[in-house]
Amino acid sequence: MTQQAPTSHSDTRSISEIRKATFDDAELLLNWRNDEVTRMQAFTQDIIKPDDHRQWLERTLGDPKKVLQIILNEQSEPIGQVRFDISGTVAEITIALGPEYRNRGYGTLALIESSTRFMEHHPEVRRIRARIKETNEVSIKVFKRAGYGDERRDKEVVSLFFAGRKKD
Ligand SMILES: CC(C)(COP(=O)(O)OP(=O)(O)OC[C@H]1O[C@@H](n2cnc3c(N)ncnc32)[C@H](O)[C@@H]1OP(=O)(O)O)[C@@H](O)C(=O)NCCC(=O)NCCS
Repeated sequence: MTQQAPTSHSDTRSISEIRKATFDDAELLLNWRNDEVTRMQAFTQDIIKPDDHRQWLERTLGDPKKVLQIILNEQSEPIGQVRFDISGTVAEITIALGPEYRNRGYGTLALIESSTRFMEHHPEVRRIRARIKETNEVSIKVFKRAGYGDERRDKEVVSLFFAGRKKD
């Protein structure tokens, strides 16, 4: 099932696929991770070196508690990544889109699709948590629009939770 874009964006935008990342995605993932805006919104902001990135990717792909996925748009272009880190009954989500694909509605669609699908495939997980810097207004807005709620604040970090989407 694909998600259609919300009202204020073009009707033609959609997520065609969310697939597991592979080692072939290393360069793409590193470019997204080292993008300046993404670094500023992350909790660690250093520029990652290619060798460190490859080691990290190898560990991540081999870890059953980490789910790293590539988001493809309606033209099957890879537009960003979403990652779930499972810890007991909670999974922590992070998302980053390539700069040229931001602010077009894809982030909302990607969160709805990936979060819903993740919960279906991981019944042991009760809630997904997003930890967002309180200054990252775009991200807070987009997570809320995708169905995340139960907001909590701790210092400069906003936590939002997703427990599955209500059936229509
Ligand atoms: C956060 C992110 C995934 C959101 O995805 P996106 O595709 O850009 O989001 P959408 O297009 O669905 O929605 C963006 C909304 O923010 C609004 N927005 C854009 N820039 C804004 C700004 N500077 N201030 C406030 N709102 C802003 C847009 O108008 C839009 O709202 P609208 O649809 O009501 O007009 C993406 O921007 C991204 O990858 N950012 C860098 C990494 C990051 O911050 N990751 C999250 C860490 S928790």
